[in-house]
Amino acid sequence: MRVSRFLTAAGLALVIAVTMSVSSLAQSKTDADFDKLMKAVGAANGAMRGAAKEQNAAGLAAEAAKMVSLFKDSEAFWKARNNAEAAAWSAAAATHADGIAKAGADMGAAMGRIKELGGTCQTCHAKYRDKDANGFIIKKG
Ligand code: HEC
Repeated sequence: MRVSRFLTAAGLALVIAVTMSVSSLAQSKTDADFDKLMKAVGAANGAMRGAAKEQNAAGLAAEAAKMVSLFKDSEAFWKARNNAEAAAWSAAAATHADGIAKAGADMGAAMGRIKELGGTCQTCHAKYRDKDANGFIIKKG
């Protein structure tokens, strides 16, 4: 009984792990997909800043790694829409996030990269983010 319960739990964990890795590979295509992506970026950004404040290097690296894959998705999204500029800003954001993930316990280096990463958020939002009655949207031409 105990063993089968353990196996059930292990099987469930595997299903969750596979589902998560598949969903993180999913490519954002629609505006709604991108909205979800940015909400995830916002969440990871908040968690990253929290971890930096607590000098939690492992937590910081984990959130930064999430950012890397989110911005790679963002890069592909903009490439598919023939927007080379927004794709390049996404790629820059992924590079800075990767720098944070690899900074290890060097909080000074991590903080410098966090600042640079924040710059990419502002640059892109200034040009491509808009707002309507329901919230944030992609700015139309
Ligand atoms: C390449 C362009 C680009 C970059 C880089 C970028 N964003 Fe965005 N972001 C957008 C656009 C466009 C929207 C509006 C689309 C939407 O939300 O539907 C947006 C929306 C958002 C939203 C609102 C989501 C919602 O609907 O509630 C948050 C939060 C956000 N971004 C956080 C960030 C943070 C934090 C960074 C940097 C770490 C960042 N973004 C970098 C383009 C970008």
